Amino acid sequence: MKVLVTDPIADAGLERLREAGHEVVTDHDAEGDALVAAVEDANALVVRSGTEVTADLLANAPELQIVGRAGIGVDNIDIDAATDHGVIVANAPEGNVRAAAEHTVAMTFATARSIPQAHARLETGEWAKGEFLGTELRDKTLGVVGLGRVGQEVAKRLGGLGMDLVAYDPYIGEERAEQLGAELAELDETLERADVLTIHTPLTPETENMIGEEELARLEGGYVVNCARGGIVDEPALAAAVEDGVLAGAAVDVFAEEPLPEDSPLLDVDDVIVTPHLGASTAAAQENVATSIADQILSAFLGEPVMNALNAPSMDAAAFPRVKPYIGLAETAGRIAVQLFDGHVNEVEVEYAGDIAEEDVELVTASALKGVFLPIESQVNAVNAQEIAEQRGIEVSETKRSQAEDFTSLVTATVHNDDASVSVCGTLFAGEDPRIVRIDGFRVDAIPGGRMIVSRNTDEPGVIGLIGSVMGEYDINIAGMYNARQTIGGEAMTVYNVDQEVPDEAREKLEEDPRVIETRYISLEDE
Ligand code: NAD
Ligand code: MLT
Repeated sequence: MKVLVTDPIADAGLERLREAGHEVVTDHDAEGDALVAAVEDANALVVRSGTEVTADLLANAPELQIVGRAGIGVDNIDIDAATDHGVIVANAPEGNVRAAAEHTVAMTFATARSIPQAHARLETGEWAKGEFLGTELRDKTLGVVGLGRVGQEVAKRLGGLGMDLVAYDPYIGEERAEQLGAELAELDETLERADVLTIHTPLTPETENMIGEEELARLEGGYVVNCARGGIVDEPALAAAVEDGVLAGAAVDVFAEEPLPEDSPLLDVDDVIVTPHLGASTAAAQENVATSIADQILSAFLGEPVMNALNAPSMDAAAFPRVKPYIGLAETAGRIAVQLFDGHVNEVEVEYAGDIAEEDVELVTASALKGVFLPIESQVNAVNAQEIAEQRGIEVSETKRSQAEDFTSLVTATVHNDDASVSVCGTLFAGEDPRIVRIDGFRVDAIPGGRMIVSRNTDEPGVIGLIGSVMGEYDINIAGMYNARQTIGGEAMTVYNVDQEVPDEAREKLEEDPRVIETRYISLEDE
């Protein structure tokens, strides 16, 4: 497989991919047409914040299975477009939390004590001791906007150094805030009370320009630290507030436009200190995020759940071995059911019985859906199957029951519309050998795979012989067969495994015989 890496990541991640036998192509300068050309045959794309993964780029990457973001922020990736193309987007949200928190603490002290400014003066030979009067942080109030992973680590560190903590985060519980010694408040109150305001939210439509001129005015005399994302704080308003003395200073690591343009107003104000998006730039953090992304790409290539997938069903790694064999079984059941069904499907139901019903089966259901859509959608996979169902107005339901009759586990895919339904139920013999054990009301024992015929006929002598001789006429070899009936002389169902494709003509010939009710050709071949 080809892994294209368009932003620098640590060697440890690249090595892990190479050791697994994959071709790793690094092209950090690729832009525009060159980037489109490079991604054309890539199976995975690894980026940080430097590469814009747009809908256009994704449309030109037919082989792409996964985009891995070596870090947390995914605002440079069009996740909706990735989902449309069946491409997993995964990030590495844990690996650089400590690094980002430590950088925030460093920036807080640096601005409160004017360290970069004093350093710069001393470098020019000036001993400006009398010009820098700093602020002690102990007993001051830290306002944290966004009390997630990084925000909490910052709160712990600066709380531990004696700052009082007030936090604004509408999505975090009182209890968690209390454990950190932080008081939750609305944004206005947080701004009024904070001596230092530190931002740790993602950039979303809700947080974009969340801290503008009005909010900065409420912080009068305080400091602003932004090591989260550019665009959350209005940069011209921040530069003006520090310049005019409304704020004592600001420390900024992230910018609306990166690299920061030379004419940015932030660069003209002495008491605004800046770093070039260094929050995650420690060796440990870079190694963590690179190896995390490499592991997730390897999982995607193996068809296993991707731990931090943002647009695909994910699951607990410990439970995966128990669920894994049912992924293929569910896809097969869905694939057979839809090929036995006539008309428009408006509902897909996946039922789990027995041991499998105890597990998290989101991924298995997505695979059953994939099976249903495979004959009609070439670009379907477990990432976009649910979305395709929504787009097509198909209702998806998942039911569970503890009893699986004589089996350990059963997975049944049923496709419906208002007039009809077809159910295909499968199990795994010895935990790994797939068998179809029911088709509608018929108990069968069919080995699914390759090419199959499902025939409904009356249960009377000569029908199996008829099917055998028509297949012979068309040079079709029968590799296996299972016959089931509900009552003697009633309706029977016969499932054949055949070695060749069955032409419509052969099926029509069979259906000319009044004893044959219907014959369906099923293909489980990979397209
Ligand atoms: P997270 O998802 O763990 O936490 C984000 C928090 O923000 C959540 O608790 C969420 O509830 C809160 N939030 C969301 N919308 C909000 C709103 N409108 N108002 C208030 N709170 C809101 O993310 P994280 O891992 O803590 O990362 C935080 C930020 O830091 C992200 O923007 C991330 O990209 C950035 N980051 C930057 C660097 C760097 O190099 N400078 C490194 C790592 C992370
Ligand atoms: C992130 O989102 O993880 C950070 O911005 C770090 C980075 O990639 O530089």
